[in-house]
Amino acid sequence: MIDPASISKAVSILKSGGLVAFPTETVYGLGGDADNEKALKAIFKVKGRPETHPLIVHIHAAGQLKDWARNIPKAAEDLARKLWPGPMTLILQKADRVSKVATGGQDTVGLRVPDHEVALALLKEFKGGVAAPSANRFGKVSPTTADHVRRDLGNDVDFILDGGPCTVGVESTIVDFSSGDPVILRPGGLTRERLEQVLGRPVPVRAAGVVRVSGQLESHYAPRARVVIASPAEARSQADALKAGGKIVMLLGEKDVAASELYASLRRADESGADIIVVPLPDETGLGLAVADRLRKAAAGR
Ligand code: TXA
Ligand code: MG
Repeated sequence: MIDPASISKAVSILKSGGLVAFPTETVYGLGGDADNEKALKAIFKVKGRPETHPLIVHIHAAGQLKDWARNIPKAAEDLARKLWPGPMTLILQKADRVSKVATGGQDTVGLRVPDHEVALALLKEFKGGVAAPSANRFGKVSPTTADHVRRDLGNDVDFILDGGPCTVGVESTIVDFSSGDPVILRPGGLTRERLEQVLGRPVPVRAAGVVRVSGQLESHYAPRARVVIASPAEARSQADALKAGGKIVMLLGEKDVAASELYASLRRADESGADIIVVPLPDETGLGLAVADRLRKAAAGR
């Protein structure tokens, strides 16, 4: 799966300030050198993302944490050692090295070690940190294949590393340690249950409302078609009722929408010309918590 020539090419593009899209286990990232403010600004520009919305810095091992963060709580250090590489981002007080362009002006930084052999090969050879949001235009559905990235960003990205479809399919779980005790800012690929098991205590999910992370904005992760949420029991009759109104309706799954298929399904529905996507919410346990979160945001008013 790893092509050393592609990795070297990607590394030299990053070193010269260019942008490289790369696979992770969650979604594809749009990467730039975290130490290069020109590259960081280019990421915001290509994504069309407001400059106040911070980027995650990707590193290759928990041992690099101290290069990027300070005053690291022991619980955060433990999580990093036990769960990285993995779909978890830690929010910590930033080290001096970290540019405020990456953090959207904040004194905290998001850090993560992705669990994907291509990403890890890239990060190891690059040595520094790679700042990367999901490789989609702001507010849209995240890419889970190299082809999604190509279609979304086209020539605005210098190079795309193809690592096949993402296995997890929803973004990382963001765990905020910036005020001491852990809080989940965004449910994601690492389940709350697993997090609580490792920490040995309950971890609250921060209530929506305060806009600080971009995924917390009302409408986000949104396909072109309108998304209508229905209970699993009502999805079928809802779909039929809307169909009667002359709209095209897509019903995703009979019960649960698998996390790994979620974004590809929304994209396929758009491509099929759907006006409305009727979708049942999964149980909010395990990965269902992240799937339900993304569906609610996809359904939020635009
Ligand atoms: O799985 C993922 O996390 C993917 C892959 C590429 O790693 N990345 C991703 O990045 O989803 P992005 O930029 O689309 O979402 C990152 C989220 C944003 O909502 C951002 O605001 C939040 O992380 N974030 C980053 N740094 C933060 C900070 N210092 N404080 C609070 N939120 C932060
Ligand atoms: Mg994103």
